[in-house]
Amino acid sequence: MLIRKQADIRPSEITSEKNYLNRRAFIRAGALFGGSILAPPAISAVVPDERGARLAKVRKSSFSTDEAANSFEDITTYNNYYEFGTGKGDPYRNAQDFDPLPWTIEVEGHAEKTGTFDLEDFIKPFDLEERIYRMRCVEAWSMVIPWVGISLADVVKHFKPTSKAKYVAFETLNDRKRMPGVRRGSLDWPYREGLTIAEAVNPLPILAVGLYGQVLPNQNGAPIRLVVPWKYGFKGIKGIVRMRFTEKQPETSWNMAQPREYGFYANVNPNVDHPRWSQARERRIGAGIFASKQPTLMFNGYGEEVAHLYKGLDLRRNY
Ligand code: MTE
Repeated sequence: MLIRKQADIRPSEITSEKNYLNRRAFIRAGALFGGSILAPPAISAVVPDERGARLAKVRKSSFSTDEAANSFEDITTYNNYYEFGTGKGDPYRNAQDFDPLPWTIEVEGHAEKTGTFDLEDFIKPFDLEERIYRMRCVEAWSMVIPWVGISLADVVKHFKPTSKAKYVAFETLNDRKRMPGVRRGSLDWPYREGLTIAEAVNPLPILAVGLYGQVLPNQNGAPIRLVVPWKYGFKGIKGIVRMRFTEKQPETSWNMAQPREYGFYANVNPNVDHPRWSQARERRIGAGIFASKQPTLMFNGYGEEVAHLYKGLDLRRNY
């Protein structure tokens, strides 16, 4: 056998360990051999790239509600994700073949640190936490979801927004080929959302990468989406590819589509009705058709943590 000395090997022949061990192939091979391989230490696996894979090193968060969580089936088959269709079952049906990896996130605008980051590098500096949150949709239904994610406050601070940054804007992937709903004009794509910086550095919002301890299913916004539990569900933008620190209040998709019905703030508020229906009560998905609706709580029950953000703001005008 011919053994070459180190000096004989050209640099171009040395592949990085990460490239050499194609993780997907490696994990698949592992599954063939009984699924009990150990992940090699050289491969970081913050977000495993297999559908349904368990997320490692997830710590429990004290912010979690102790209400019973909805079933995995409820959470993954009753969705709003217009890029995959406007029916509640469409995202489950139409997003199955979507492959979210590889994925990059662009961070731009008024911040000291900006750039384009591979999903894994974007997430790596932060701790993964399970946060069981009450979620309230503007359509007056609700669920309790055990998210896994990273603190948005930590992410924002990491990129060091400058004093000019007053808001953080988010955008979803806009891909006609891979997202059948984008080929139809139900919204002005890409889907857009935003928060004030003060909201974004509150401890509650997370960027979720999983639920029920597993990698986020496509229909719930894989590979990374926003979760803001005191706001109506439409603020929880899915499939995020861009984060921009802005001076001006950013445009948001539902406000652009129907400004009289959907504002920038979208705080859950039982006292301010939607122009076409009451927001006083909500239907808990999975409770059964005979279950009575339950009262909606101000700020979805998270007032202690967030009410101070809106002191002096007229929440009827700033809906
Ligand atoms: N994000 C994108 N990109 N596109 C969408 O259509 N729908 C929003 C929000 N995020 C939406 C989106 C709405 S209206 C709701 S209620 C939540 O996603 C639903 O999240 P879930 O399906 O995980 O419960």
